[in-house]
Amino acid sequence: MPCCKQEIRDFTHIQPILERYKQIPGSLISVLQQVQDCCGYLSADVLRHIAAALGLPSAEVFGVATFYTQFRFSPAGKYLILLCQGTACHVNGSQALERTIQEELGIADGETTKDSLFSLQNVACLGCCSLSPVMTVNGETYGKLTPQKLRDTLRQLREQAEAERQAEKTQSEEIPTEENQAEEAPGEGDEA
Ligand code: FES
Repeated sequence: MPCCKQEIRDFTHIQPILERYKQIPGSLISVLQQVQDCCGYLSADVLRHIAAALGLPSAEVFGVATFYTQFRFSPAGKYLILLCQGTACHVNGSQALERTIQEELGIADGETTKDSLFSLQNVACLGCCSLSPVMTVNGETYGKLTPQKLRDTLRQLREQAEAERQAEKTQSEEIPTEENQAEEAPGEGDEA
């Protein structure tokens, strides 16, 4: 999971990654992968910072980052779906799954739903072909998928997110604020 969700302006948290790799030629992709794991995505500011730290032209860093589909340039949703499009998954129906996601969530590869709940990313082999077709959601594997199983999973995740949202709302309403404490406290002249 990302270690930083805030807008990326402060780069101190990625400094150890840059320090580790700056003397290693040809390590740009590893740096981009680790920074993305840390920050959730690669902003233009962070790409410029990586270029400066590694002593590379910005155009090269932007060029490499945009060449590979594994890199994201905007924050991912709460649930990041990696949908395998490797050979075994392709043969077993991954394209039908992608259509199901488009119908159910209205997003294509590389997109995030408007409510920031789901992001979809097509990837090559996830390394568990015997379970094909496969997707992972935030690292959890869902194998032998059918369009119906996928639909059910997406609906469950949506319900789970809604339940969490309601629980957080209830919790925040229960936290006493100065205002409602004042309302609840007996004022002068109240009956004992
Ligand atoms: S091809 Fe999909 S997991 Fe290998």
